[in-house]
Amino acid sequence: MKKIVLTGACGVLGMQIRETLAGQAEELVSVDIQEAPDPLLGNERFEQVDVADMDAFGPLVEGADMVVHFAAIVDERPFEDLLGPNYISSYNVWEAAYRHGARRVIYASSVHAVGMHETMSGIGLDAPHRPDTFYGLAKCFAEDLGKMYWDKRGIEAVCLRIFSCTSEPQNLRALQTWLSYDDLRQLVLRAVEAPVTGFATIFGISNNTRAPINNDKAGFLGFKPQDNAEDWAEALQETAPRPAPDDMGFTRLGGPFASVPLGESGIAGIKAMSAAAAEPEPDGATANAGKLPKFLSKKPSD
Ligand SMILES: NC(=O)c1ccc[n+]([C@@H]2O[C@H](COP(=O)([O-])OP(=O)(O)OC[C@H]3O[C@@H](n4cnc5c(N)ncnc54)[C@H](O)[C@@H]3O)[C@@H](O)[C@H]2O)c1
Repeated sequence: MKKIVLTGACGVLGMQIRETLAGQAEELVSVDIQEAPDPLLGNERFEQVDVADMDAFGPLVEGADMVVHFAAIVDERPFEDLLGPNYISSYNVWEAAYRHGARRVIYASSVHAVGMHETMSGIGLDAPHRPDTFYGLAKCFAEDLGKMYWDKRGIEAVCLRIFSCTSEPQNLRALQTWLSYDDLRQLVLRAVEAPVTGFATIFGISNNTRAPINNDKAGFLGFKPQDNAEDWAEALQETAPRPAPDDMGFTRLGGPFASVPLGESGIAGIKAMSAAAAEPEPDGATANAGKLPKFLSKKPSD
């Protein structure tokens, strides 16, 4: 390939995939509203641009084979705050891809597009959208945008519904939802290298024993995650307080985003969950006692 455009290149996940993408094309054009990462890779060009500004962003896609769209505000906020970065930016990405003849868009979607589904229901990729926040709704919007640009304009799309992508699982929920950085890189590579994708979605989750979803319908992409959050289970179960059986932070796929009022931070809830797991209360011995609730068991029958 001649050129790949990456948006959100300075973000936590963007920084993890720059090298992978640079290896797939003659030129990687990295875009972010922040300042350039230092150092840049040998075949990487950086553009400090707001993706929501079509006049500035659109021309960068000229001559590109693919756009990998990771830029977003990554939390729940009032709708008006997300409109530019999370909604209009996605429109600009697909429309610029169309205008400049790019073949495929690879999109960082999220579990929050389906966050109100019950964790225990074990959904597959055919489950309907069920967003938990305005943030999740933007992911549904972009996925549907991608489907429409495939149906009407023949632009391929792979929507990666990323769950909890961190260096290590940070709380009990992550025993189910973790995506390792290595598995993220493999997922992005599969999405780039697959010869034909049409419009596709795939859950971005590691090979976790307790993974609450089914990725069978995306088998053709050949994603074979290698890491398993279970390696951290013993340590996390020792320290993390047991959730109540009706805690929506666990009973719904979206975790804390499922219970937070619309417009209020969901990341704050995830941070609180992770802090509690890392530093248990002095009375942790009682808080941690007992069996894990059913929604955290390895199999529904456990
Ligand atoms: N981290 C996760 O576990 C996770 C889970 C699900 C989905 N995702 C999705 O993956 C993507 C990357 O997430 P992340 O964790 O790296 O977040 P991040 O906040 O670290 O990175 C997002 C990047 O996008 C940039 N950005 C925001 N608005 C922009 C704009 N208008 N124009 C240009 N750049 C802009 C930011 O400056 C930032 O560098 C996001 O789309 C996010 O929704 C992440």
